[in-house]
Amino acid sequence: MGSEPRAEPLRLGSIAPNFDAETTKGPINFHEFIGDNWVILFSHPEDYTPVCTTELGAFAKLEPEFARRGVKLIGLSANTIESHGGWIKDIDEISGSNLSFPIIGDKDRKVAFLYDMLDHQDTTNVDSKGIAFTIRSVFVIDPKKTIRTILSYPASTGRNTAEVLRIVDSLQTGDKHKVTTPINWLPGDDVIVHPSINNEKAKELFPDFKMVKPYLRFTPLPKEKTSAAN
Ligand code: BEZ
Repeated sequence: MGSEPRAEPLRLGSIAPNFDAETTKGPINFHEFIGDNWVILFSHPEDYTPVCTTELGAFAKLEPEFARRGVKLIGLSANTIESHGGWIKDIDEISGSNLSFPIIGDKDRKVAFLYDMLDHQDTTNVDSKGIAFTIRSVFVIDPKKTIRTILSYPASTGRNTAEVLRIVDSLQTGDKHKVTTPINWLPGDDVIVHPSINNEKAKELFPDFKMVKPYLRFTPLPKEKTSAAN
């Protein structure tokens, strides 16, 4: 892998690169798939592997919560869609899920390369042919097709679907109310008035805000006003 050029680095704020791909739900053009929705694109190193199996079952079970927030899920694994099809049956059997979102067949790592998901550092993280596995990446993409969050986990560590949902709630609530969210925030907890809002405007928008320091102003924001409402 060392001599191959690396994909253009993606940063928060980059436009999610477009691609055409085969998926378990038919061919897609990624930008058309995004449409006016939020999208979570997440990758798996390989089909029929233990950690990935547990992750996909968990994402499938939480899908209704993502859908309620206008978020579409799409997975990727570096095998064919035929292989994915058999694996999905196992996932549903093991997890009691009904996995209905598409999984990209990325056997040749085309999308993984485009999204810089290949593990170039851990030389032991390779398949039986010595080709680098994808890492466990998560991209949170907004309806403007802007990448808002990137997470990278090693192959050995399963992700936390509740954290992915929490990130969506933070981003959507922040966009709507001009707030940021503190450490370990959960919908219903106090939020932080965005630093760009002066105190005069803050009083108008958040009559109950409290100034702990001039740069740290908390305000209550009931769960009903967040994207986690209902
Ligand atoms: C897993 O999903 O368990 C896994 C996949 C690739 C490498 C190591 C673990």
